[in-house]
Amino acid sequence: MAEWPGVSGDQTPEAAGVIPGHAGRRAGLDKQPHEVAAMFDGVAARYDRTNTVISFGRDRAWRRATCRALELRPGARVLDVGAGTGVSTAEFAGADRVAVGVDISLGMLAAGRRRRPHVPLLAADALTLPFADATFDAVTISFALRNVVDPVAALREFARVARPGGRLVVCEFSHPTSRLFRTVYLSYLMRSLPAVARRVASNADAYVYLAESIRAWPDQTGLAGWMTDAGWADVAWRNLTGGVVALHRATRPGDVETTTPF
Ligand SMILES: C[S@@+](CC[C@H](N)C(=O)[O-])C[C@H]1O[C@@H](n2cnc3c(N)ncnc32)[C@H](O)[C@@H]1O
Repeated sequence: MAEWPGVSGDQTPEAAGVIPGHAGRRAGLDKQPHEVAAMFDGVAARYDRTNTVISFGRDRAWRRATCRALELRPGARVLDVGAGTGVSTAEFAGADRVAVGVDISLGMLAAGRRRRPHVPLLAADALTLPFADATFDAVTISFALRNVVDPVAALREFARVARPGGRLVVCEFSHPTSRLFRTVYLSYLMRSLPAVARRVASNADAYVYLAESIRAWPDQTGLAGWMTDAGWADVAWRNLTGGVVALHRATRPGDVETTTPF
């Protein structure tokens, strides 16, 4: 485990174990799935735009970096877990590869199907994915693992559906490496972000949860340890925007595959 050098068909919500939400205001840090789903139902309408505003437009660069880290080959099959409106999934799709998104929030999926009808989006829980073993060449999750009630169990489930030698990339908020920058960033998260969200988001309370859940999330080394515990090999990470976001990359043990150092 190290820091990177340099660089099925449609399912009913019930079958997917997904609970239709009621646009709940804010989930607790115990991440109860019905509360998380309901909270995201409530932010779905303005989710994409709010993200771009509160990240000062950095979200696009983070998504591009995630796609590059996946090193997708022609014909690759990619699973995007916690896909929400499909904004992350759309980045991975291409003429020569297939990307499928899954999510537990029916509101996010509905907004995604309206905005991106070409992106396949299914209702499914990260902990019980409706796919056979070794289905995907790559599994990825952007800004969603933090919201899953049992992240290590989810990481284990991702390993089940990835083929041997397949790739995992986790894009998630993390811990800025400079102490001074971290102080400024935490002050933005806890004070300014909820105020900004009140102006642009459809459920500002959800952005208080966002700040609290980021603060409570493990640092880069901690998440790398979880990935190893879940059975992933060659775990490495790379900081983006000074560690505001970290990309964690790993390989499913099995057939050996050559990876390019980052
Ligand atoms: C912050 S959004 C991220 C959406 C998208 N990946 C992006 O990059 O913008 C987090 C998403 O994770 C979903 N989510 C949370 N827990 C989940 C679970 N157990 N299984 C599937 N999706 C989940 C939420 O419903 C929400 O849509």
